[in-house]
Amino acid sequence: MSTGYTGFEALWHDLFWEAEEAPSEVLLMDDFLQDKDGKSLYVGSGSGRLLGPLVEAEHELGGLEMSPEMVALSREKFPLAEVVEGAWQDHQGEDKYASIVIPAFTFQLFSDPQKQLQRLWEQTDHLYLTLFFPWAELSGDLPQNEWYFDRGIQLPTGESGELETRHKIKEQGGSLVRRHRYTMKDAAGAVVRAEETEQRLRFFTDVALKNLLKKTGWEIEKEIENLGDEDDLVYVATFYLRGC
Ligand SMILES: C[S@@+](CC[C@H](N)C(=O)[O-])C[C@H]1O[C@@H](n2cnc3c(N)ncnc32)[C@H](O)[C@@H]1O
Repeated sequence: MSTGYTGFEALWHDLFWEAEEAPSEVLLMDDFLQDKDGKSLYVGSGSGRLLGPLVEAEHELGGLEMSPEMVALSREKFPLAEVVEGAWQDHQGEDKYASIVIPAFTFQLFSDPQKQLQRLWEQTDHLYLTLFFPWAELSGDLPQNEWYFDRGIQLPTGESGELETRHKIKEQGGSLVRRHRYTMKDAAGAVVRAEETEQRLRFFTDVALKNLLKKTGWEIEKEIENLGDEDDLVYVATFYLRGC
């Protein structure tokens, strides 16, 4: 089983984001990058979905992406956007970056958040971070340890793509393991091929996150809830952080 952004998970990544109809982060990232002079780094730039438009808007931004398939998609779709293939954990920039942006919960895939926040602090004074909080999993709205239908997409080639998810959550340890099953079906509904992946994510309560940021030398300049949408529960939080 793959652990990261290969096969259907890479190929269908953008179609599933579109199907979710969530607000795009590109406006927030554009706002954050407005006053950053010099080169910024986008960690986990994926298929270029957000990197491409930001480079086209003339931000001095380069991508870093560890999945070769995602890098290939990005280079094909947005040839002007520079992307380095590699993992953040092995990355050492030549100079300090004007800023580093990590949208779309990529930071939560890091197994050692404290160490990586310290490394980020060494490589920039300005950090953009978006994190999600798994309310639906914690409240039991989504069943634990059983497969459920997540989303479906129509493929341009006529087939359909289906995503099913199965998760295990440990509230105490702040860890969520999600299995994804991607199934391609032909026009008659017969299965053409199915693939599975597994993701381990960390999540943080408000208090735990603020302690972690304080310990690693980050101060919150701005916090935006739910990408600007109003809701009583905070599912997604975006932080503009400054090294102190
Ligand atoms: C949730 S996807 C988001 C992709 C992109 N930011 C977007 O919003 O379209 C996470 C991406 O981060 C990449 N990634 C995960 N861990 C990484 C790491 N340690 N270093 C570099 N890239 C990483 C994955 O391969 C994947 O493409």
